Amino acid sequence: MRIDILTLLPELLESPLCHSIVKRAQDKGQVAIHVHNIRDYGKGDYRQVDDYAFGGGAGMVMQIEPVFTLIENLKAERTYDEIIYLTPDGERLAQPMVNHLSIFTNIMLLCGHYKGIDHRIREHLITREISIGDYVLSGGELAAAVLVDAIVRVVPGVISDETSALTDSFQDGLLAPPIYTRPEEFNGWRVPEVLLSGNHKLIAEWQEEQALERTKLLRPDLLEE
Ligand code: ADE
Repeated sequence: MRIDILTLLPELLESPLCHSIVKRAQDKGQVAIHVHNIRDYGKGDYRQVDDYAFGGGAGMVMQIEPVFTLIENLKAERTYDEIIYLTPDGERLAQPMVNHLSIFTNIMLLCGHYKGIDHRIREHLITREISIGDYVLSGGELAAAVLVDAIVRVVPGVISDETSALTDSFQDGLLAPPIYTRPEEFNGWRVPEVLLSGNHKLIAEWQEEQALERTKLLRPDLLEE
């Protein structure tokens, strides 16, 4: 899978994309992530990429031309399954959408900045708009990092024990059950006995029950869906 990220702040993406599972997936050639600086396509000595909004109002708007040129250059090289704009007014991100995106070959992510982008980009170039939650970030980069991390961990083969991603919270519409490791007792707090029993059937039943209980308690909305 190839992911192209278009941004005015490539530095913001360096750390999230260079560690842990996302780094390993790139090292193994399972995912290729390319970050492009929109400013390289800006006009004039100052590489201008933003301008005042028509009709007035506070805040600068990202111009159409640099983004258009960059997107068209990339599209000339390969076909994209989706060109995604990260925005708080997009479709709310959830695990089913992550799973869906993870089977694509090429996706592009556009990060907005300033007050937003010229709306013609959204109308004519973007195929999907995604929000990571009902709050406003300073730009789309952190949202893009969240989306990439979520996608990469479910790309087939990325997590060696594939069941590991499949047992994440939300994969079956439930929160994950609690997990523990050694020591069996710390400070008088014991690990639930069933997990020490070695009885895999009982353990699986307990985990299922716990997942359901935690979901009922913490996220009843998931059960209504
Ligand atoms: N850009 C700014 N806020 C955002 C959000 N909540 N989700 C996605 N992109 C954003």
